[in-house]
Amino acid sequence: MIRIEHLTKSFDAGRTFAVRDVSLEVNEGETLVLLGASGCGKTTTLKMINRLVEPTGGRIEVDGREVQSVDLLELRRSIGYVFQDIGLFPHMTAAENVEIVPRLLGWSLEKRRQRSAELLELVGLEARTYGQRLPRRLSGGQQQRIGIARALAADPKYLLMDEPFGALDAVTRDQLQRELIDLRRTLNKTIIFVTHDLFEALRLADRIGVMNAGRLEQIGEPGELLHAPATPFVTDLFEHARRQAQLIEAST
Ligand SMILES: Nc1ncnc2c1ncn2[C@@H]1O[C@H](COP(=O)(O)OP(=O)(O)OP(=O)(O)O)[C@@H](O)[C@H]1O
Ligand SMILES: [Mg+2]
Repeated sequence: MIRIEHLTKSFDAGRTFAVRDVSLEVNEGETLVLLGASGCGKTTTLKMINRLVEPTGGRIEVDGREVQSVDLLELRRSIGYVFQDIGLFPHMTAAENVEIVPRLLGWSLEKRRQRSAELLELVGLEARTYGQRLPRRLSGGQQQRIGIARALAADPKYLLMDEPFGALDAVTRDQLQRELIDLRRTLNKTIIFVTHDLFEALRLADRIGVMNAGRLEQIGEPGELLHAPATPFVTDLFEHARRQAQLIEAST
């Protein structure tokens, strides 16, 4: 499991805080959704977990070991990361992008190719057609699928997903959400999924952690947040969603 205690990050020596005193646990096999508006500290939190950003204070344990003390390659092997901007290498084919971590781990070419083909198929892209394409010849949704395949390449126990569907149209997003739910069923990963979209959070989460201005406002099962919001911020969030849902109902 992942355990975060009093995690804090300031990029300006303590004048402001991107993340402020966040504590939470992610249980084995669960999907925790971090939900919050732009700039509330979601990406910074994820990046501290796999050490792309150094915390200012607090600690993070993965499987009982503080991340600072774990070998970086080992850490990144156990944690797949889907970046907010996808971040595929433009000069590498889809298959090569998927094979980045296996290559770092020294897998043979044959084993890598087999793995990337298998993963491309898993995310719904025919390996023969798409494996040799450069990212610029793929649609946004297809690139996002490659990003997910890449994160899964070394069969990590944990998956950190930073607004993976944020830039997609509603129909593609809906489809990828459904596929992620299926994928989760087959792969049994422990996932932290970041989004600013409450409806996406409700659809995917076992538990939701609501973030606001660097702080964790409340964490709990969707029903708990809905029926027993702990702060005015969480109350407003659901109120806003309720109004949106009513609007949709009223217009149909
Ligand atoms: N490298 C950095 N240097 C300075 N400030 C940073 C840096 N990275 C993030 N910040 C600041 O930290 C705060 C939190 O940023 P973060 O990227 O974690 O937000 P976010 O919740 O992921 O937002 P979004 O939904 O827009 O991606 C913001 O105010 C941001 O400007
Ligand atoms: Mg972000």
